Amino acid sequence: MSAPFYTFANGDKIPAIAFGAGRIEPKNEYWPHFEAKIKAAIRNGYRHIDTAEIYQTDLEVGNALKAFPEIPRSEFFITSKVSNHGGIKNRDIEGSLKKTLKELGTDYVDLYLIHAPFLDPAGLTLEEAWAELEALKAKGLTRHIGVSNFRPQTIEKILRIAKEKPEVNQIEIHPYNVEQDTIDFDKKHGILTAGYSPLRALGHNTSGTLAPLLESIATKHSVTPAQVLLKWQIQQGFQVVTSSNNEDRQRTQLELGFTLDESDIKAITEEGAKNPIRFFG
Ligand SMILES: NC(=O)c1ccc[n+]([C@@H]2O[C@H](COP(=O)([O-])OP(=O)(O)OC[C@H]3O[C@@H](n4cnc5c(N)ncnc54)[C@H](OP(=O)(O)O)[C@@H]3O)[C@@H](O)[C@H]2O)c1
Repeated sequence: MSAPFYTFANGDKIPAIAFGAGRIEPKNEYWPHFEAKIKAAIRNGYRHIDTAEIYQTDLEVGNALKAFPEIPRSEFFITSKVSNHGGIKNRDIEGSLKKTLKELGTDYVDLYLIHAPFLDPAGLTLEEAWAELEALKAKGLTRHIGVSNFRPQTIEKILRIAKEKPEVNQIEIHPYNVEQDTIDFDKKHGILTAGYSPLRALGHNTSGTLAPLLESIATKHSVTPAQVLLKWQIQQGFQVVTSSNNEDRQRTQLELGFTLDESDIKAITEEGAKNPIRFFG
């Protein structure tokens, strides 16, 4: 596996590429095919799994993890997120995290995020939710804490009351959606920006000029357009959250030992900015 990692202030390492356990289809039952997908991702080299209370896939992820008893827990990095509709609304984030841990079959997650700042008025405030995350970290139920889908104004609310500042902000990033103000704010405050949905650009606006540009850059480096998109993020210092059902893609998306030219990165950014679109939120 040639995927790089980032290092937190305490020396812990976070693998730069996470495999997402999110889903789009409705789900009312256990999904054996989803367990198989996570198992394949682990077999193909992923050690960072990105999950969330709202995905309701933790049992499948937990069973996939159990299928690799030879890989110590310390080699996995698990990110999870508390939902606005779950732990935050119910004013019980600890209850949500303990359920997540039980389903995953582990004593701790490596990173726990507030999934989004759009809170239910009946639930915890942002400030209360953050204080809960700090308490869960102090109890050892999570090693690191952070946020997702936050912009500078919402992170500032947390910074005003935080004993510990967020270490990660996971937001939607691809060439069609670069929230530079948030990225700059994260950097200024030492927060690692993570980008989810890095490959959405592949299927979008195929009549536009980004697709041929990605193809030509991919050909120049003898890689695929998907690898170019992942490297476009990593070379800018972002952690990435991707996914694929396809085992060949799972494998190649971890093979990122090439280096994009600065001019490639600039060209992709400029091309994407011509057709801005957000897929989430
Ligand atoms: N924090 C948040 O609010 C939030 C929001 C959204 C997502 N996420 C996280 O991010 C994860 C990934 O999200 P995403 O699925 O939108 O990520 P993505 O990596 O942008 O998209 C994955 C999709 O791209 C396709 N794909 C993968 N490799 C490809 C290739 N080489 N060529 C063409 N298509 C390819 C996959 O199809 P195949 O399966 O056919 O390969 C899959 O449908 C989620 O599972 C979740 O963990 C977080």
